[in-house]
Amino acid sequence: MARLVDRTILIVGASSGIGAQVARDVAGHGNRVAVVARRAAELAAVAADVRAAGSPCLDIVADALDPVAAAAVVARVAAEFGTVDVALLNAGQGPDMAMAEAGVADVARVMALNYDVTVNYLVPLIAQLRRQGGGLIAQTNSLAGLMGIPRQGPYSAAKAAVRTLLDAARVELAPEGIRFTSLYPGFVATARVSADGLPKPFQISEKQAARHVVRALRREPANASFPWTTSALVRFLRVLPAPVSGAVLRKLAGRREPDGLRAAGRRSRGA
Ligand SMILES: NC(=O)c1ccc[n+]([C@@H]2O[C@H](COP(=O)([O-])OP(=O)(O)OC[C@H]3O[C@@H](n4cnc5c(N)ncnc54)[C@H](OP(=O)(O)O)[C@@H]3O)[C@@H](O)[C@H]2O)c1
Repeated sequence: MARLVDRTILIVGASSGIGAQVARDVAGHGNRVAVVARRAAELAAVAADVRAAGSPCLDIVADALDPVAAAAVVARVAAEFGTVDVALLNAGQGPDMAMAEAGVADVARVMALNYDVTVNYLVPLIAQLRRQGGGLIAQTNSLAGLMGIPRQGPYSAAKAAVRTLLDAARVELAPEGIRFTSLYPGFVATARVSADGLPKPFQISEKQAARHVVRALRREPANASFPWTTSALVRFLRVLPAPVSGAVLRKLAGRREPDGLRAAGRRSRGA
């Protein structure tokens, strides 16, 4: 944890899964931690663990879909702790969604759940980091943001949009000392995704994922993909001709025919 010492660390999306584990892993070491999510009880439990490990911890219940609330969170953390040294924008959700069944509102909703929640924090954070002379903004993207994954199309698209936005911000804001790290996990066995019934090759545990994230927060690479197996698979698929990669992806998604995809979509929604 060489460089994650005596920092103020804000984690948006910290009540469960990867974000909760990262909060627990960065606790102590002189760090001050702020955790944010919508579920108050789950968030309070994470904050209690962080405090027990020796860090002051603010737990703030706020919906990242609300830009006013997001700006207030950033202002409150800066007021309480003086700076925001590291922000992990981790809120996001990738529901199983077959394009044969998705409505326009469904697709727009997934964009909001992954893109808007990031932008709502990104803007006030950039202002805060400019005022204080720099800092790190990390974001939990996904290997699904590097290519269109069947039944995860709207999610892939939303994560890809975040990726390109941060790529531009990284170049623009480097002269002001603002760094950006995009994290690209493969499948992680968190409670929410475990229930969706989709195949998950090379899945890793929450604890393994959090270790990768904390290492990246320490080293601050522009991009960190993990585990290497899924990362290599995605990179390989991207250089294959589209009909070949399409056939592999259909097989991995567990359905070969569009009808099968539709039936699977209906089943997953309990229809
Ligand atoms: N699990 C995987 O296989 C996987 C793979 C690649 C990338 N990811 C990405 O990793 C991140 C974390 O996901 P996870 O798997 O750890 O799932 P998770 O347990 O559902 O974690 C998501 C966190 O974000 C919070 N959140 C979601 N929407 C929010 C909102 N509108 N406002 C505030 N907080 C919000 C959730 O808390 P509340 O519900 O309490 O608000 C929760 O704390 C996501 O961005 C996801 O896309 C996950």
